[in-house]
Amino acid sequence: MAWTLITGASEGLGVEFARIAAREGRNLILAARSADKLERVAEDARAQGVEVLVVPTDLSDPAATDQLWATATDGRSVDVLVNNAGLGSNGDFADGQSWGRELSSIQVNMLALTRLMKLAIPHMQALDKGRILNVASVAGFTPGPNMAVYHATKAYVLSLSEAVAEELRGTNVTVTALCPGATATNFFEDADMNGVRLLKIAKPMKASEVAELGWLQARIGKRIVVPGAMNKVFAFLPRISPRGVTTRVTSMIMGKH
Ligand SMILES: NC(=O)c1ccc[n+]([C@@H]2O[C@H](COP(=O)([O-])OP(=O)(O)OC[C@H]3O[C@@H](n4cnc5c(N)ncnc54)[C@H](OP(=O)(O)O)[C@@H]3O)[C@@H](O)[C@H]2O)c1
Repeated sequence: MAWTLITGASEGLGVEFARIAAREGRNLILAARSADKLERVAEDARAQGVEVLVVPTDLSDPAATDQLWATATDGRSVDVLVNNAGLGSNGDFADGQSWGRELSSIQVNMLALTRLMKLAIPHMQALDKGRILNVASVAGFTPGPNMAVYHATKAYVLSLSEAVAEELRGTNVTVTALCPGATATNFFEDADMNGVRLLKIAKPMKASEVAELGWLQARIGKRIVVPGAMNKVFAFLPRISPRGVTTRVTSMIMGKH
């Protein structure tokens, strides 16, 4: 039985992906920093009869990311990779205080995700099957004043996912970019986003709903998945409106009252 590696499996969407994979009888490798929370997720999964390996990992450390892959594949085949771990920060780009968190978001959202893809693809090609589910965001479709670095990281994830998916055309390895909008997890609290206008105009979707849709669409190799009607509008509008207008409107939405 091949294994599923899920990053950011201690909270939010990652917990939901773990729940879905366990329900399907898939063995799990769970990574994030919080060992205690991962253990709780693992216990629930084991109760469904699957094997679970918990690997506490700080994905902002490139060496730890390589080590995670080495541990995950030690005697195991991994045919599903869910690159879900991610973080953001709300605020002024010019504010020197935010650099630590912005650096972590670049390291986790972009570097770790890219490295894991790069390690996973040849492994999956050797198995002649594999699915990579990268959690991007609707933020990836627009520049995001007040959340500039986060939007840029997600634009990177979206672009990388589509490009590599095309390179893999005709093989049994697929790449899917899941682009949720506001989703009810700890993300907003963690990113200091309480009070942003977005949360007043868009009701967050349930994490379970977003994860189910992403998982299902990744199974059939869909390249881009945008859950929810409102988010589809957010993803589509930048294609028809001038970039300057899109950026202004996003600035308004991502700002605080
Ligand atoms: N919630 C939303 O509205 C929303 C919308 C669009 C996209 N997304 C994306 O969805 C993904 C999951 O986020 P979420 O909403 O589920 O948020 P969340 O509840 O805050 O979960 C984030 C996960 O990432 C992990 N993580 C953060 N820093 C890490 C690090 N340095 N090393 C390893 N793991 C790390 C966290 O685990 P530890 O703290 O235990 O390390 C946690 O498991 C992210 O990529 C996010 O950008 C979320």
